[in-house]
Amino acid sequence: MRVLILRDYESVSAWTARYIANEINAFEPTSSNPYVLGLPTGSSPMGTYKELIAMVKEGELSFKNVVTFNMDEYVGLGGDHPQSYRYFMQEHFFNHIDIIPENTHIPNGLATDIDYECKAYEQAIQHAGGVRLFFGGVGVDGHIAFNEPGSSLVSRTRVKTLTSDTVLANARFFDNNTELVPKTAITVGVGTIMDARQVLLVVSGVSKAEALKQAVEGPISHMWTVTALQMHPKAIIVCDEAAAAGLKTETVRYFKDIEKDNLL
Ligand code: GLP
Repeated sequence: MRVLILRDYESVSAWTARYIANEINAFEPTSSNPYVLGLPTGSSPMGTYKELIAMVKEGELSFKNVVTFNMDEYVGLGGDHPQSYRYFMQEHFFNHIDIIPENTHIPNGLATDIDYECKAYEQAIQHAGGVRLFFGGVGVDGHIAFNEPGSSLVSRTRVKTLTSDTVLANARFFDNNTELVPKTAITVGVGTIMDARQVLLVVSGVSKAEALKQAVEGPISHMWTVTALQMHPKAIIVCDEAAAAGLKTETVRYFKDIEKDNLL
């Protein structure tokens, strides 16, 4: 696992966007061999999305031959619901880049046969050749996508019940009213994320300090699903100093030392 400890959220976003852009450009994607990118929602990726949009506007990067798969979607919300993840992605990213709409995939929260929707989502990822890079964030309780504590570390796309803590954390997007937050979501599994050739997580702010500590120093445990990344051959965590507050001094020194030439 690589761990980049950068000064602040802006540096985390700039580093991450540059990394993703370099990966896409180095791959030289074509319509018959597109770059397959996994994407998250939430506040953590917003800065990265802004940077990527700027790169597209400046002609440094194109999403024409990029296929995306989002991590999750609330059950019961359609794409035109302002709090749905489809709506979020359109507003904050897809509407501002040159991606072909048909190449963007997000689970359908209104699917009548949810089990079929989940299986079909896994198949669509396979059909696209698998995810090259899964970009993500992490919840305060260490969840990745919506793989809440206790989720199987080999899980696939399915419906998960959200914990009260996650409902509370996400209520900020629903007028701070927990009643309005859906209690279940379709989410890719930990196994789905682990199948990606690379996984890159952004972690920012002191509220994520415990999750980051578990991710980097803790034992692998289904109670902190992010710890599964310790078993991934190519996982990168990009965090800021605030999120790194819970790491041991020697851990910080170690990663800062080995990454000192890779800070942009
Ligand atoms: C939700 C999403 C996760 C995200 C997490 C943290 O639970 N399903 O993908 O990582 O929130 O969100 P934020 O970045 O807003 O802290």
